[in-house]
Amino acid sequence: MSSTAAPTSRTALVTGPTAGIGASFARQLAARGDDLVLVARDSQRLEQLAAELRAAHGVEVEVLVADLADREQLARVERRVADSDRPVHLLVNNAGFGHKRPFLENSVEDEQQMLDVLVTAVLRLTHAALGAMVARGEGQVVNVSSVAGYLPRGTYSAAKAYVTSLSRWADATYRPQGVQVMALLPGFTKTEFHARMDVSRGSAPRWMWLDADRLVRDALADLDAGKQLSIPSKRYKVLAGLSRVVPVGVLSRFQRLGRR
Ligand SMILES: NC(=O)c1ccc[n+]([C@@H]2O[C@H](COP(=O)([O-])OP(=O)(O)OC[C@H]3O[C@@H](n4cnc5c(N)ncnc54)[C@H](OP(=O)(O)O)[C@@H]3O)[C@@H](O)[C@H]2O)c1
Repeated sequence: MSSTAAPTSRTALVTGPTAGIGASFARQLAARGDDLVLVARDSQRLEQLAAELRAAHGVEVEVLVADLADREQLARVERRVADSDRPVHLLVNNAGFGHKRPFLENSVEDEQQMLDVLVTAVLRLTHAALGAMVARGEGQVVNVSSVAGYLPRGTYSAAKAYVTSLSRWADATYRPQGVQVMALLPGFTKTEFHARMDVSRGSAPRWMWLDADRLVRDALADLDAGKQLSIPSKRYKVLAGLSRVVPVGVLSRFQRLGRR
């Protein structure tokens, strides 16, 4: 008699899928057959993307409108990630932004808001995911960090340094219990990120700009290969390696790259 076992479906929760790297993750994961939970602030763009992915790939797509800088709205997302009746197999902590102005021109509340999205949301969603995943003995988390985390480039870089370190530690600690945590470190990538900061693509040399779809393809290949750290493209692998050996004083000369 042939087996009647239902095909196993996986669910991936992606934060920040309404643009850029997160949109590429959502499209590529749906194309693989994953059901999705999409989390961001712009409900119209979320619903449009959800309809597109259901129609194109026949997957189930849930929309969760939430501002990750708001602790109550973040708590709703934490509860969804931890829900053992509707397991999330892959969490992609991707949502993020950078400030337009330098540190002292921002209010400390603006700085706090960036920290809330880049660090607090990543910490709390990783905590929620690991609790559920370790209990099941399986699961994956991708934390979208940045090669900027290796450089002295303000509070954005400091936040990304935290995300990379958190992810590497969590992977080393929980991999033996079946859960993989991978830090993804993009370099300059063509998304809405810099336009939202009023920064033009001319602010960094053309060769430095990566394509978001290619970046996510490489990242998913690294995830499948069981990697703990993904630095897509040879260029950025070399630059990341150099950043470990070049003195901080020299690195800080590149402060203005990719800025106004
Ligand atoms: N682009 C680069 O050069 C680059 C380089 C290294 C690392 N990264 C990192 O890659 C990640 C994705 O950035 P991207 O380049 O794809 O930027 P993007 O095109 O501007 O997309 C950012 C996404 O984050 C969401 N988001 C922003 N603030 C949010 C909040 N408070 N609550 C919920 N969602 C929020 C946005 O959705 P809504 O506006 O709809 O809420 C959007 O979907 C970020 O973590 C970024 O730091 C980017």
